[in-house]
Amino acid sequence: MKPRIAILISGGGSNMVSLVNSMKSNRINALPAIVISNNPNAAGLKKASELDVPTISIDHKIFNGNREAFEETLNNTLQRETIDIICLAGFMRILSHSFINQWDNKILNIHPSLLPKYKGLNTHQRAIDASDKITGCSVHIVTSELDGGLVLGQKSVNISSDETAQTLAEKVLVEEHVLYSKILDDFINNIYVQ
Ligand code: GRF
Repeated sequence: MKPRIAILISGGGSNMVSLVNSMKSNRINALPAIVISNNPNAAGLKKASELDVPTISIDHKIFNGNREAFEETLNNTLQRETIDIICLAGFMRILSHSFINQWDNKILNIHPSLLPKYKGLNTHQRAIDASDKITGCSVHIVTSELDGGLVLGQKSVNISSDETAQTLAEKVLVEEHVLYSKILDDFINNIYVQ
């Protein structure tokens, strides 16, 4: 049986689209079971529907800051969908220790920097401000330490002298799409094909 993947998004969902396309074309031996957004207005929800992937929006705002209740709803959805692996793809909520512990070694994330550099936000501007010549993206296992879990793979991108955060984000995003599919495929092969 193919592992069932949940992809969690908050925005445009280009990484989600790339993962779904890789699964649908059998470049990843897995099923895109559901796309979940904490933002009901995320553009990625429509893109997922157009790809015939079921979607659910769980608006964190209606939980009035009660993260436990939000995560309980999220967890119930994931259990109901018998999810094997969670891929965070531009999902802008921090998950609690307790949630992550329940999905130990089953949550991946894509981060737009060469970790351990530039954990957190505004990674591209920080790389430019530091006069870095190279940046990139990383796929890592999600642990309780923000952007701190085991790095499974990285891709680098050159930073040119006239780079802006916007142009850099566009260049890195292209590499994110390639990297995430490759690493998810490797991860599944390591776990499910022994
Ligand atoms: C990507 O740069 C990802 O690395 C970061 O958020 C962005 C999401 O882009 N965590 P998209 O929604 O996949 O287009």
